Amino acid sequence: MCGIVGYVGGHQAAPLLLEGLGRLEHRGYDSAGLAVLGGSAGVRVAKRAGRVRELADGLPRRFGGKVGIGHTRWATHGPATDVNAHPHTDTSGRVAVVHNGIIDNAAALRDRLTAQGVDLVSDTDTEVIAHLVAASTADTLEGKVRDALAVVTGTWGLAVVHADFPDRIVAARNGSPLLVGVGDKEMYVASDLAAIVRHTTTVAHLEDGELATVTAAGFSTFRDDLTRTTREATTLDLDPEAYEAGEHASYMRKEMLEQPEAARRVVSGRLDKRFATAHLGGLNLDARETREIQRVKVLGCGSAYYVGQMGALLIEELARIPADAEAASEFRYRDPVIEPDTLYVAVSQSGETIDTLLAVQEVRRKGGRCIGLVNVVGSAIARECDGGLYLHAGPEVAVASTKALTTMFLGFALLALQLGRVRDLSIADGRRLIAGLEALPEQVEAVLAQEDALAETARELAKAESLFFVGRVRGFPVAREGAQKFKEISYRHAEAYQTSELKHGPLALISPAVPTVAIVPDDELTDRNVGALHEIAARGGPLVVVTHEGLDLGGLPATRIDVPRNEKELDPILLTIPLQVLAYHAALHLGHDIDKPRNLAKSVTVE
Ligand code: F6R
Repeated sequence: MCGIVGYVGGHQAAPLLLEGLGRLEHRGYDSAGLAVLGGSAGVRVAKRAGRVRELADGLPRRFGGKVGIGHTRWATHGPATDVNAHPHTDTSGRVAVVHNGIIDNAAALRDRLTAQGVDLVSDTDTEVIAHLVAASTADTLEGKVRDALAVVTGTWGLAVVHADFPDRIVAARNGSPLLVGVGDKEMYVASDLAAIVRHTTTVAHLEDGELATVTAAGFSTFRDDLTRTTREATTLDLDPEAYEAGEHASYMRKEMLEQPEAARRVVSGRLDKRFATAHLGGLNLDARETREIQRVKVLGCGSAYYVGQMGALLIEELARIPADAEAASEFRYRDPVIEPDTLYVAVSQSGETIDTLLAVQEVRRKGGRCIGLVNVVGSAIARECDGGLYLHAGPEVAVASTKALTTMFLGFALLALQLGRVRDLSIADGRRLIAGLEALPEQVEAVLAQEDALAETARELAKAESLFFVGRVRGFPVAREGAQKFKEISYRHAEAYQTSELKHGPLALISPAVPTVAIVPDDELTDRNVGALHEIAARGGPLVVVTHEGLDLGGLPATRIDVPRNEKELDPILLTIPLQVLAYHAALHLGHDIDKPRNLAKSVTVE
């Protein structure tokens, strides 16, 4: 959500910043801007509403300078206009700031600055920082930034340049990710590794409350009292190609197709056939502690929350521990009772979702134990948790999450297997699950191979303004995720219900204009599911049924999508894959920007 990139070194900054912004655009794409320090010209700024490409096309010819900062915006305060785009400058135009996060006391600070005669030109919360930096009497840029941050409250990942200090960027982090990238006589600042991965994979993540001075020669970090901190840069083993869409028309398509491989990676080296269990050393839970767990509470947001629901069911089924999932965004606001014998599990692709991070902090503040299922290594949530497992899905760029969710589900399966085998799951059931997990990647491949037929169904569904997605028990979170994906990128109204709940109200909305996508696995609820769907058919509601190969649907008039059979506990993920493809093709058919759906951005780092 919003992206920051900064450069200081021997090359022209603007092209590098534009390239970085292009790679960050999934983090916010309603406006973009750059500021470079251009010798006697001081700070040059170019910014506008719209995409990075438009910024690049309109960039003035004379935009030289070897130090600069850039930003892609996802609007929080004020609409997406040229003036609200970052960087923001002070009145003299000598200070420029890019900022991710929210300044909570911006309104009061704006009033105070206005009373002092400062002319604020934008609607943003960020602009106050530029004026505060300019107003500081400190004689270093570090001191000026420190002084400014001393009076603001809220969250920030920010980078500041100042014409009087032309060799440096000062960066600061508090609740919004920021890292420093180390190159050869050049340095970078970025909110996301994706922005700089082509140039360096040697990085240092700033901690909350930390500031950094970044010059071409190196970087140093310090606290807000200007005492130095020790932060070593580490070189990450990353393939820059993994951040490219390559031959694919969109990142979402690429990432959907990467699911079989991601599914192999997440279980690789973690299955123990001899003892029919999983080995997740990073959980930091011994057998005694595992046996003492009385409850599991999964915390995540959006799609991660829906997969969390699938995961909670898996844990309850396999480990026989009461488990449920809750939207992390709501959790801390109900002042939750944190139980010492509950295992809290945070689930997040980015590891930076602020709602999930705050939920983890709430658990830990009250003495609870929280583990993480996280994709991004070293991310804030991963660092905040007591232990956990990385998902190894690889970089996920598309706003609509696909491969990360598949690995989350499999992460839960591994967790459930390990918890189950320490408790009462039999060795036979453990082996059954392991065989299922091993078969799964190929089965995901088989579902993806049905793309042409799915595309045809998607085009039909795209005609409807409104759709239902329904399922029961294991199928219900699948329906929720299916509806989420569909609405996110096709902008059609899609609502998920338990199939069993239809007759308690929503059946009133069924008509030939409102199709229903129903999840009907071959399980103990098949007959009841089919019965409820007949009630929809009787009212003229078009039906698409996602079901198991060979299952008799009793003459139900429906377009059928078949998925392979696996162990019933693993059904949800195979049933989810076709729903991703449906959403993708509906959006494609409607001509939408698949990777950058309107109003959304990857990684929600503001509350
Ligand atoms: C939907 C989607 C979002 C995320 C949610 C949590 O496709 O991607 O709903 O699942 O914002 O993000 P992470 O997993 O990064 O915490």
